[in-house]
Amino acid sequence: MINRIFTLLPVFLLGSLLILPSTITAQSAQDIDDKVEELLSRMTLEEKVGQLNQHSGSWDVTGPIPENNEYVARRAELLKNGGVGSLLNVVGAEATYEAQKLAVENSRLGIPLIFGFDVIHGFKTIFPIPLGEAASWDLDAIEQSARVAAIEASAAGINWTFAPMVDVGRDPRWGRVMEGAGEDPYLGTQVGLARMNGFQTDDLSDKSSILATAKHFAGYGFSEGGRDYNTVDVGTQTLHNIVLPPFKALSEAGIGTVMNSFNDLNGIPASGDYYLQRTLLKEKWGFEGFIISDWGSIRQMINHGYSKDLEQSAYHAITSGNDMDMESEAYQKHLADLVKSGEVDIKLVDESVRRILRMKFMLGLFDDPYKYSDQEREAQLLFTEEHRAIARDVAKRSIVLLNNEEDLLPLSKNVESIAVIGNLANDKDTPLGNWRGRGESNSAISLLEGIQAAVGTDVDVTYEEGYTLAEGNGSFAFALNYPEDDGSGFAAAIESAQNSDVVIMAVGEEGLQSGEGRSLVDISLKGRQLELFKKIKEVNNNVVLVLMAGRPIIEPELYEEAHALLNTWHLGTEAGHAIADVIFGDYNPSGKLPMSVPRATGQIPVYYNYKSSGRPQTGPGDDGAVFWSHYNDEVNTPQYSFGYGLSYTDFEYSNFTLNKNVMGMNETVTVSIDVSNTGEVDGEEVIQLYIRDHFASAMRPVKELKGFDKVMIEAGDTKTIAFELDKETFEFYAADGTWKTEPGMFSIMIGRNSNEVSTLELEVK
Ligand code: NOJ
Repeated sequence: MINRIFTLLPVFLLGSLLILPSTITAQSAQDIDDKVEELLSRMTLEEKVGQLNQHSGSWDVTGPIPENNEYVARRAELLKNGGVGSLLNVVGAEATYEAQKLAVENSRLGIPLIFGFDVIHGFKTIFPIPLGEAASWDLDAIEQSARVAAIEASAAGINWTFAPMVDVGRDPRWGRVMEGAGEDPYLGTQVGLARMNGFQTDDLSDKSSILATAKHFAGYGFSEGGRDYNTVDVGTQTLHNIVLPPFKALSEAGIGTVMNSFNDLNGIPASGDYYLQRTLLKEKWGFEGFIISDWGSIRQMINHGYSKDLEQSAYHAITSGNDMDMESEAYQKHLADLVKSGEVDIKLVDESVRRILRMKFMLGLFDDPYKYSDQEREAQLLFTEEHRAIARDVAKRSIVLLNNEEDLLPLSKNVESIAVIGNLANDKDTPLGNWRGRGESNSAISLLEGIQAAVGTDVDVTYEEGYTLAEGNGSFAFALNYPEDDGSGFAAAIESAQNSDVVIMAVGEEGLQSGEGRSLVDISLKGRQLELFKKIKEVNNNVVLVLMAGRPIIEPELYEEAHALLNTWHLGTEAGHAIADVIFGDYNPSGKLPMSVPRATGQIPVYYNYKSSGRPQTGPGDDGAVFWSHYNDEVNTPQYSFGYGLSYTDFEYSNFTLNKNVMGMNETVTVSIDVSNTGEVDGEEVIQLYIRDHFASAMRPVKELKGFDKVMIEAGDTKTIAFELDKETFEFYAADGTWKTEPGMFSIMIGRNSNEVSTLELEVK
């Protein structure tokens, strides 16, 4: 376990650490358990099964509706007789009030519904996509973003979000990398915890708290070939050391729900996986919430070739520990009969009902089922100035400065003319990204608007679209039939670049090009964006390139040619203002990449925490030798490494020390380093600590992130950053299937990114 040494750090860093996970006192836990048992004892089998069904409304469509869905027409009737325990995609204080009323006032026991929705990066006020927020490495900011999302969603009837997604992802072809925290389990865990705390707070019964969901359990981020919904094949080492740690941490910290996933793992679909759901999550980790299936994933076990029919799917799901059924109708249609025939023990159903009721009690729904359906709160709390200001703050912290040769950035606001170029610069929709909750189309501040607001009317700002981009929806047809750009916008864009002091050009992905079901085999820039950029560079060398995308983009030439380059993801409602804050130096960029940027698709997966091959590169690699692990047509390294990101100032690292070179198994070791801001402006740096275990019962990665601190250092100032390591820091899932620290030699590395580190050796005895 890494302990930061707090006395050396600014107080604001402590905020997120002080928030306790959702807890209830032993007394109230006992009260709730008593109430659950009492209610359970009065329920019929049909009422019990009712609690395990989740149905979708039509406010949003987030999956394929089952064919011949007879329940849509019967929804009101089912709600009235206790046949549904939860609704998803029913949104708004009024709509949730009406649905709740049907359930509470008509059903025999009046058990309230819970309302789930994908509140992924904001509800109405949209924040950066999660991958972007993770790039901030700013846990307070991330927690605050989730808090605002919860305040807004809870005012609109929602008391349960299907977030955070804590799937570690190494393949940027997979469209859902935008929804996670990137390639590292340690960063992913910290970000996941911050999000969970923001959603649930330490008091679930508060009316602005909502249940969070750790998803997708497990392995979904490893979909083969980066193709969504595909099969997954990971070995035990990767499963336990890379995939599972965020789930374990969130479960232990009190997350309310876990969602299983679409994929199989070693031939067992996750919704029917006994080992994952019962043995690990519920028994070993002591998870106290409930498991929700993913959309239709119980039914999909038929397509997987695991169940012969829907009835068997229901059987597999309930026996393996899946508590609630989202849109498969498997429990609705078959569970009661399976119990009556004796195939399924009623105890399994009781256990699932218990878990769900417990969460409903914890949310306080039995005291006031309408607490989230308050139209006055809804009118007051959505899309407020305050929330937008927070969204802007989080957005600027998420931006990563990739290149800044000759210090072109920050720009002065006193230039005479700026040419803003690129379809995406004038796009008010793309910054909202995918999974935009109830964010309204075209409601974001565009880059152009942000620049205009920053420089006012004294600067001559001209806009040219330049290239065209599909107004796509990320669908199959969209990706395959990408519309031809006839280049008719090129001339005007080039002319405007020629006549301006500086060019700000936006390139990237349209807002729905990434996300669920948006996998791509080619993750370079679509259309003729690169071509136009090169032409612009020929006439004006002062080009600031703004890259907006939901995933790492492969475009080596662009990275080579773009002397000033900002990676701005899809930054949400306040995108344009946040980018302008950074371009003009009102905020000094501090983001670091949470995912490596490959040089070529053929390198994928490329990630920093790989295991060494038996024939690693030892020399420069250009000596003509072929017998080592490499490609003959590309280097092994990524374009930009995990953890990389520049600042407008310079940081120097010195005095790296360990307080001992040998650590006894039950001792701690203190690692410290001085970081000086040697530049002209104040700035924040993310100091990253990595380890390497040199030999072990199972091979360990060449580097593993084990700690980080984001610290503000004023120009000219030096801060001492310290980390305390103990045996938990070095623990891993060993060859014998237990978590342990094995004695041996370790490298301790500290640096500004995963590729630029200083190293000291430590022996653990
Ligand atoms: C399917 C997605 O995989 C999941 O993440 C989401 O929460 C559900 N649909 C509900 O919309």
